[in-house]
Amino acid sequence: MKLADNKATLSFSNGSPSVDLPVYQGNVGPDVIDIRKLYAQTGMFTYDPGFLSTASCQSAITYIDGDKGELLYRGYPIEQLATQCDFMETCHLLLYGNLPDAAAKIDFTKRVTNHTMVNEQMQFFLRGFRRDAHPMAIMTGLVGALSAFYHDSTDINNPEHREISAIRLIAKMPTLVAMAYKYSAGQPYMYPKNKLSYAGNFLHMMFANPCEDYEVNPVIERALDRIFVLHADHEQNASTSTVRLCGSSGTNPFAAIAAGVACLWGPAHGGANEACLNMLEDIQRMGGVSKVGQFMDQVKDKNSNVKLMGFGHRVYKNYDPRAKLMQETCKEVLTSLGLENDPLFKLAMALEKIALEDDYFVQRKLYPNVDFYSGIVQRAIGIPVSLFTAIFALARTVGWIAQLNEMIGDPEYKIGRPRQLFTGSVRRDVLPIAQR
Ligand code: SDX
Repeated sequence: MKLADNKATLSFSNGSPSVDLPVYQGNVGPDVIDIRKLYAQTGMFTYDPGFLSTASCQSAITYIDGDKGELLYRGYPIEQLATQCDFMETCHLLLYGNLPDAAAKIDFTKRVTNHTMVNEQMQFFLRGFRRDAHPMAIMTGLVGALSAFYHDSTDINNPEHREISAIRLIAKMPTLVAMAYKYSAGQPYMYPKNKLSYAGNFLHMMFANPCEDYEVNPVIERALDRIFVLHADHEQNASTSTVRLCGSSGTNPFAAIAAGVACLWGPAHGGANEACLNMLEDIQRMGGVSKVGQFMDQVKDKNSNVKLMGFGHRVYKNYDPRAKLMQETCKEVLTSLGLENDPLFKLAMALEKIALEDDYFVQRKLYPNVDFYSGIVQRAIGIPVSLFTAIFALARTVGWIAQLNEMIGDPEYKIGRPRQLFTGSVRRDVLPIAQR
């Protein structure tokens, strides 16, 4: 970042001395007011509980322009990456800052492929769960458990250890998600097949069984790979910020990623794809498109606590570019599977049309986000609704680890330790119980 030819002057109406604060600028996007010395200079904190106006770090990985509906991974528009590159190229880009040439892509893919198996002991962690446990509960446990296998060989201050941890996490997440699915289905786990692509291998581990050959459907393979690309990273969202804060204590990178998995599970975040599909099925059961108006009335009634899941975003105040690409992928998969008349897809498009013309949504700049269509295409592929967020976590792991490694690689980084505005009881003395 570079010092802007500007500064902020904070003045107080109570006569306290004013304070000059430096302003820094990045290569694109809003400038920042550097408040690192504010407390020392004024004895005051800033207050921003949802971090609506707070930059927690400087980063060179992902840039979002919410007003334009623009998303860039290391400067490349998501529309180009999702149509011209695959997930392995995107992982290389996010981790190392550039798209690989042919030789580098082969080498990177080979390194990931060679780490897809998990320790045989991992299967015993699953046995502790009920078969109907939510896959995200299982994933939070399994990813955290990975730290037990690598804790002694992971010095996060060693760049090579950070690199191998990144490869291991990217490689093993599909294996763990597929194991969580097979466990819930009561089916045997399928080992990774190194001759398959990253997405093809995941489909094989999910849907193959020991009794018959399994052929990867190339249309579904490509669609799943694009879903991974679309979910790979997204600036300082809640789960990425969780990973950074967790990792800032110097903890094991597998434990930090497990914290990201736990945060992503929430319905306001990565859990929205599961919640959105359940919402569409509820409306379908109520009567489908004819009941959309009634549902929208509920959404607009503040007391209902009903939200249009898959809509709205803290940063995008325009169309989420990933939602457009996801809708296209939806159409491609449904058509290739002969499901172009899928009632839920038609319902989703009707909902979107009605919402985008409704003043409540227009006024609040609420548009479809990445989660609005992703559930429909995953359901068409045969992925159970409860697994949608686990697949989001699978894809986001590369973003989390790239952001974590960027932070740890910055010599200036410190442990994150926010302060507070205290509104509780001021000092008082304990009374003997007889006098309370
Ligand atoms: C992801 O941050 C990221 O980058 C996340 C993500 C990523 O890739 O990492 O993009 C992934 O999490 C996408 C978002 C998935 N979540 C959902 O689809 C859940 C539904 N959306 C909302 O919960 C909400 O839009 C959030 C949480 C996404 C954003 O919430 P904000 O920024 O805190 O905005 P807000 O709640 O203050 O909403 C502003 C207004 C409010 O109304 P008023 O108080 O002004 O009258 O818009 C309303 C909200 O009630 N509103 C909605 C709504 N979203 C916001 N009303 C109905 N339906 C919605 N979906």
